Amino acid sequence: MKEVPIVVLDFGSQYTQLIARKLRENGIYAEIYPYNESIENIKSKNPKGIILSGGPASVYSKDAYHPDSEIFKLNLPMLGICYGMQLITQHFGGVVIPADHHEYGKAELHFDSECEIFKNSDDGQIVWMSHGDRVDMLPDDFDKIAYSDNSPYAAIANIEKNIYAFQFHPEVYHSKQGSQLLSNFAKLICGCEKSWNMGSFAKNSIQAIRDKVGDKKVLCGVSGGVDSSVVATLLHEAIGKEQLVAVFVDQGLLRENEAKQVQDMFKSRGINLITIDARDIFLNRLKGITDPEEKRKIIGETFIEVFDKEAQNHDGIDFLAQGTLYTDVIESVSVKGPSKTIKSHHNVGGLPDWMSFELIEPLREIFKDEVRELGLEIGLPKDMIGRHPFPGPGLAIRVMGEVDDDALRLLRKSDTIMQEELKASGYYDKVWQAFTVLLNVQSVGVMGDNRTYDNTICIRIVESVDGMTATFATVPYELLERMSSRIINEIDDINRVVYDISSKPPSTIEWE
Ligand code: XMP
Repeated sequence: MKEVPIVVLDFGSQYTQLIARKLRENGIYAEIYPYNESIENIKSKNPKGIILSGGPASVYSKDAYHPDSEIFKLNLPMLGICYGMQLITQHFGGVVIPADHHEYGKAELHFDSECEIFKNSDDGQIVWMSHGDRVDMLPDDFDKIAYSDNSPYAAIANIEKNIYAFQFHPEVYHSKQGSQLLSNFAKLICGCEKSWNMGSFAKNSIQAIRDKVGDKKVLCGVSGGVDSSVVATLLHEAIGKEQLVAVFVDQGLLRENEAKQVQDMFKSRGINLITIDARDIFLNRLKGITDPEEKRKIIGETFIEVFDKEAQNHDGIDFLAQGTLYTDVIESVSVKGPSKTIKSHHNVGGLPDWMSFELIEPLREIFKDEVRELGLEIGLPKDMIGRHPFPGPGLAIRVMGEVDDDALRLLRKSDTIMQEELKASGYYDKVWQAFTVLLNVQSVGVMGDNRTYDNTICIRIVESVDGMTATFATVPYELLERMSSRIINEIDDINRVVYDISSKPPSTIEWE
């Protein structure tokens, strides 16, 4: 049985996987389990420490999630984060109360004592708070080790027992030194050694695919994006050309020239690519549909159907490989814990019963930037790796309202212009993602001496490290001006361009 140095129990936070990810960054392997994982299974991993994640519930509510209380008797180092802190407090006899107001956003963390867990990090560092309840009275034998303006107990500990708890989220990007704090917990408190890197991940993934697939065939959906290209390359390495059936579905929701670019790229890598022209099926099914979730569901189901049909043209296919990322999983369904559904991503959620494939998802546990690192590790070219993410449902979720040829035409043209300007300015490689959205809004304009009543294009450019949180990019006004004037001048039917200045959360990156 594989040993897991750090076991993370998931109580439903949107950020749980970031905990494992930050630990990986520090060379520490961690696995996530549901909050109610059996104590026997946890013990069998021989962990050196346990982390209790955050979560949306209140420890006192009827539907609060509680772990097997035996975990507190294992005498292992423990770190509770947000909800995890409240669980620790409650378990050891302290008091948790609802806060007068939800504390949400950045706070300055001030140390009360010189703890190992704060080593090599700064007093006054910025941390990210996101909580309703808070600790009101400490359990016996616990000390307050840090505070913030609004949280007198921002961090507490029973140092003798190696139990620590943070009210803030060290795992999110906005907690600037959070990665150091998690590393301190794993290395200094739990005694973990640095033993994980992307090279070992690639090797293990390739071997795991080989072991799982044997002499069977794998159907692999490719989109031309980084994720599916990395998956196809891993498969190619693992099982070779004969056992890999790579399928590219043109669902009619791609950007300008995208289908051709994808075909060329795979050809150059010696991977056989079957292209299916399914434009009509998708666009017909999307007729009259305006609800975002309905669009996503239709696209997801149609994808699976088209794949299944293609699979039947080949003998001996037992597996379907997908480039599902952790961000897709966490925002869709809770696979490992009780997180809430935000959007149903088209490429996750499991396969319907009537399909006879087993899934292979080598990227399911990792994040976009880790996929890029993995891509470089297995020899994909830099410009391929640098491509912005493109969602499975494609342009459909960038057209507000009904998706039809006209809407797609406007979106494609505006997107092409925007991308050209972004690349020319050098900003393409500096931002996480950039795209245009066709709003379902007409407005009045004037061209020459005439009144116009035309469509609005929104430009969305964001910075992010993992797609989980994002801020709008502060690109130069001159660049936005060039994009706007070209879009309005070169595309009939558009007379207004706006820039999206919202961050995630509370918005999401895509509009639907
Ligand atoms: P949101 O809109 O959820 O997007 O903030 C986060 C990141 O995920 C991409 N995205 C998707 N990727 N299938 C995908 O493969 C999908 O259904 C999907 N929806 C959003 C989005 O482009 C962003 O990078």
